[in-house]
Amino acid sequence: MAAAAARVLVDRLGARPDAAVVLGTGLGAAADDLGDVVAEVDLAGLPGFVPHGAPGHRCACRVVAFGPITVLVLLGRVHLYEGRTPAEVAHAVRVAVLAGSQTVVFTNAAGAVDPELAVGDIVLIADHLDLTGGPGALAGLVGSVPPPFVEMTGAWSPRLRRAARTARNATREGVYAQMRGPQFETPAEIRMLRTLGADLVGMSTVVEAVAARHLGAELAGLSVVTNLAAGLAKEPVPVEEITDVAAGTAPDVGKLIQAILASVGAGPGTGHRGPPGGLSQVELA
Ligand code: HPA
Repeated sequence: MAAAAARVLVDRLGARPDAAVVLGTGLGAAADDLGDVVAEVDLAGLPGFVPHGAPGHRCACRVVAFGPITVLVLLGRVHLYEGRTPAEVAHAVRVAVLAGSQTVVFTNAAGAVDPELAVGDIVLIADHLDLTGGPGALAGLVGSVPPPFVEMTGAWSPRLRRAARTARNATREGVYAQMRGPQFETPAEIRMLRTLGADLVGMSTVVEAVAARHLGAELAGLSVVTNLAAGLAKEPVPVEEITDVAAGTAPDVGKLIQAILASVGAGPGTGHRGPPGGLSQVELA
């Protein structure tokens, strides 16, 4: 299904993207300054795409010329908390990678679990915890090409993180934990997450990232701290403010996305392995 959708997408675009960006809650404007918009494609009619239910998340993509590279910007995402399966959640990113994107930059809104983080901080994802509690995007793919037994050490590209840190001094790094949602965490759950090593908590990204890594993409991730996680502030989590806080950081998130994309395809050792046999050999069971 993802391969079929990727073929349709490349056909419509008349070009293969080199990289993809996934825009998280409130971050719709983060890709506005990337470069000239070459095309916008409604993804709703393509094989395997399901309606996007979360506010502000569009089932569409934009193709942008960023210097010498072509970037596919996904203008929203599907979440597990919409009642969707991991395969449905991962579909758009799989399509982006199979269409040619060797790099995927994820963005999201997150709660700070590390008490040193402050609202408005932008944190590079250095590692993650899959706490979704269910089968992941690779479940059932035994027998697929490539095989689903993906090594995850270094999944969040040290090379791309270095590029972002160099461009923006003192950019923080952290461990992002994905919960299933849609309810926010209890203070006890946040204490548990801190004990487990989480710095950030959210309801997205990890399922998609694992699927993208399975197909050999190089990953970068940017989390915007929109609130202190449950129990860390005197007040309850200000749920209604999350989108606005994220939106306020969009220009800075955009600059970091550009710093990361500037190093895409820059010389050897890009960390992009691609699936064995190349993208044309991919066969998801
Ligand atoms: N918890 C889970 N998801 C979130 C949060 C949070 O505190 N903030 C933004 N997304």
